[in-house]
Amino acid sequence: VILGVSISHCSSACLVDLDGTVVGVASEERFSRRKNESGFPEQAIRWLLGSVNPREITRVAFGARQWAAGLPRAAFRKSMVSDEARDRLGRNAFFMLLRGLEVMGLPLQRVSPEAEFRRLFRGLGLPEVGMEFVDHHLCHAASALYTSGLDEPLLVTVDGIGDGWCASVSVGGEAGIETTHRVDARGSPGYFYSFVTALCGFSPNRHEGKVTGLAAFGDPRSIPEMEEMLALDESGDDRSFLLRPPVEFGPVLVSRLPLFVWAYARWLASGKSHAELTEEVERLVARTIFRELLRKPRRREDLAACAQRILEERVSGFVAHYARRYAKRELALAGGVFANVKLNQRLFNLPEVDRIFIHPGMGDEGTALGAAYQVLAQVNPGFKRHPIRDVYLGPAYSEPEVEEALRRTGVKFWKVEDESALAEGAAARIAAGQVLGLFRGRMEYGPRALGARSVLADPRRREMHDRLNRKMRRSEFMPFAPVLPAEQAYDILDGKVKGSEHAAEFMTITYAVRPAWRARIPAVVHVDGTARPQLLRREVNPFYYGILRAFERRTGVPVLINTSFNMHEEPIVCTPQDALRAFAQGGVDAMVMERYVVEQGT
Ligand SMILES: [Fe+2]
Repeated sequence: VILGVSISHCSSACLVDLDGTVVGVASEERFSRRKNESGFPEQAIRWLLGSVNPREITRVAFGARQWAAGLPRAAFRKSMVSDEARDRLGRNAFFMLLRGLEVMGLPLQRVSPEAEFRRLFRGLGLPEVGMEFVDHHLCHAASALYTSGLDEPLLVTVDGIGDGWCASVSVGGEAGIETTHRVDARGSPGYFYSFVTALCGFSPNRHEGKVTGLAAFGDPRSIPEMEEMLALDESGDDRSFLLRPPVEFGPVLVSRLPLFVWAYARWLASGKSHAELTEEVERLVARTIFRELLRKPRRREDLAACAQRILEERVSGFVAHYARRYAKRELALAGGVFANVKLNQRLFNLPEVDRIFIHPGMGDEGTALGAAYQVLAQVNPGFKRHPIRDVYLGPAYSEPEVEEALRRTGVKFWKVEDESALAEGAAARIAAGQVLGLFRGRMEYGPRALGARSVLADPRRREMHDRLNRKMRRSEFMPFAPVLPAEQAYDILDGKVKGSEHAAEFMTITYAVRPAWRARIPAVVHVDGTARPQLLRREVNPFYYGILRAFERRTGVPVLINTSFNMHEEPIVCTPQDALRAFAQGGVDAMVMERYVVEQGT
């Protein structure tokens, strides 16, 4: 069995069998209850060790190479930039900053990662494992290839930064993955979008989705000076991204150095995570360097609209070029930039593309699984590949455990033995306007709740958007997403759908909604007439599907709002206790937990 580990943004761990079966995968944030937790995913690994004999774990695969190159002390809390990447990227603001701080003697002390990891694994009862460090973008590519079910797709990865790169192009098939092109992180489209996220007043590396939602409210051509901030270099045979102006970055940084040093010192003193330092630095870059590029203050709707259009155009140009070059009509994608559901719609609608798949854990949480697959492909090249069927790969809790948690809180609850009666009851509540929490089975892998830790509501009610935002204490510009039966996708969605159904099972792509349906399900349709559905097949989750059909019998509408079950800025709930805490805070009107039901005010 191979243990996959990612320790960067949203660190994660997974176990993959030698035949390619995923035993389990989860992000550390779900256990630590801190969003996008970074660092060694100790609690996730402990959970995994509950389902396997530690002796069976022969290898650990890491989702980046840079962690082999020298790691900072304090459980990897400090700089995670390798010497090689730093030398190559020496002129970039981030790396200049980190290097400058090291030169100034700030405590970015390095430890032998080998020894540090050994110590941690010993503590977990894994004294003898072999460790392999896999290139970060190769991990993203492997996560996409080995879960896509596609034979020989074009593999494209785009993110903020990983091992010094921001994008890669590979061809993959039976013989493994061959990376043919990589793009230096100095041109990072991921950073571009994060800077704009910060410019709009949101948290970079966290609220990018708000920018995507906000974009529909702005004018995508209103800020000409943004055009050059992210460019696609088409001068040679290859395509690269350019973040501009790269040369001015250095001098601007130097002039701002005290600010950066201050941010760094504050972080050191705070004991916060590495991710929070990155967020702070990105916010500073956005507020200083990026803002100066704008000739005057701009509405954030326009900033978002321009950034979204520019990202879509540049990344489409990049992907189309390589699709033509390698005569590939099937795409498999991973990397944080492909969390952008609008971008994915644009890519799918390229004339060069017939089929698209986006790995459900497209962000860095996916590199644990990617690393494990990549090592597996070397150890056992003949392993059976199959399309990922569902993301129910996290922890589950037995009925006695759920009942015990319910008892402890003292809420009144009851059990419904018959599952179809339970589904009928849930649908009746939703049709009556209640917001329903659904807590059943194994928690989802990846950023989306897809029916195991979900909140369901009535999409026919226009006011449900505001009501849900209030209840869940959120501020989303994008409407909530719908779940609908996969076999009805063509009735409800408009335009090109065929070839993207598998991707849409994981809510990774938007579509136009047929005009006749827009008025029927207003709470899930954006101002631009699009929606980001979860297509649900009965066999993937019969109970969840049963609620959907029961709702249809009552209302004639086979669609529900599905949003993640969490409280304000917290990760998605994991344990029954997490769910009950959210319930106590009034996030939902009623809750189905396994076969138990609770409701507010009883
Ligand atoms: Fe990444």
